[in-house]
Amino acid sequence: MPTSKELMEMDTTYGAHNYHPIAVVISKAEGVWVYDLEGKKYLDCLSAYSSHNTGHRHPEIIKALKDQADLVTLTSRAFYNDKMGPFLKQLCDVMKPHVNDPKKTGVMALPMNTGAEAVETGLKVARAWGYIKKKIPKDQAKIIVCKDNFHGRTITIVGFSTDISHGRYFGNFGPYTPGFVIITYGDAEELENRILELGPENVAGFLFEPMQGEAGVLIPHKGFLKKAREICSKYNVLMIADEIQTGLGRTGKLFACDHENVQPDMYLLGKALGGGVYPVSAVVTTTEIIGPDVIVPGVHGSTFGGNPLGSAVAMKALNLIVGEKLADRSAEMGEYFMVGLRKIAAKKTKIPIIDVRGKGLLIAIELDGKARPFTEGMKDKGILAKETHSTTIRFAPPLVITKEQIDWALKIIEEVFVG
Ligand SMILES: Cc1ncc(COP(=O)(O)O)c(C=O)c1O
Repeated sequence: MPTSKELMEMDTTYGAHNYHPIAVVISKAEGVWVYDLEGKKYLDCLSAYSSHNTGHRHPEIIKALKDQADLVTLTSRAFYNDKMGPFLKQLCDVMKPHVNDPKKTGVMALPMNTGAEAVETGLKVARAWGYIKKKIPKDQAKIIVCKDNFHGRTITIVGFSTDISHGRYFGNFGPYTPGFVIITYGDAEELENRILELGPENVAGFLFEPMQGEAGVLIPHKGFLKKAREICSKYNVLMIADEIQTGLGRTGKLFACDHENVQPDMYLLGKALGGGVYPVSAVVTTTEIIGPDVIVPGVHGSTFGGNPLGSAVAMKALNLIVGEKLADRSAEMGEYFMVGLRKIAAKKTKIPIIDVRGKGLLIAIELDGKARPFTEGMKDKGILAKETHSTTIRFAPPLVITKEQIDWALKIIEEVFVG
């Protein structure tokens, strides 16, 4: 049986160094806890970047996974399977009140696997809708995105990343897909000006995160989403919400757009949709936008997208998130966690904590200096959290976390920051 050290060396020797993980080898998990190879227990404050909203290995999700594994796991879309339809119906029923549908054409979804695939799919659908329905002249479609966005790492998506600090996303992968235009995050005036400059008749969509997770849990000022909605409606531009990280209860509402009662035209979902066990993502929008006059057989697809195993798991995850009101729980626990973090920030800490921000259980603290020694320090004492950019630490535990567990976490965080 290899040791943790040997396993980490194996990763480093045989795996490309496309991540910089914290030195812990997880071999078991349950609920909010993960365990390393030596049996040490850690509170998971990352939740696989907000994928574990229902907690690790929720028994009902594991049962759905095992039951389905005993029947059929993958059919490809060359055939129908008996789980995808019910999954998409359930997803569309949940999403219907959240999607802007002025023509009342109904809601449809396109299932994929990873978040980046959902984003790519959304971009393709927006362009196709733009040419077919909005009658944008050939090859002129523009999609507006925001500075500091994070939508994944495919070659098209990194092409409109503004993270050039390490040449990290944007750096060495050109030439990039044209047609993307960047505005300042949260600046509705700039959004409108850009649409006017580009010519409203050429703009297919506005892609945004209602809170920017990877950029460091950045929240646009109140009113931005509402204003953006008005502008998108005014110029017939699709408002495309990437809620892959913020969605499904993470921010204290089912969707972060709900904080401003805004209905985007299209949702991009992933992460928690897979219940923390299987990659499931989806584009959810109206029949007007993704119906059979826009998306026809062959224009898009994925061998695994909509497979019965993923569909069975996603149905259960959705059931639990909605049925157990995990969004409300996230709001309550998030507020409790943030109050505790603010108390710590007000003390004389080893390094100043200059901001505590978040919504629900998507929280960040901003340090006046490097975060890595503190994420390492928390790891040593039993909390797994990860810095996003060098000075921000994100706390995003499973939404099933209890007050007692948050109290325990706050005690450790205080020990690490105050000593
Ligand atoms: C907002 C957002 N969009 C897209 C993605 C990409 O998802 P995936 O890593 O599953 O491709 C992420 C991942 O962190 C994300 O936070």
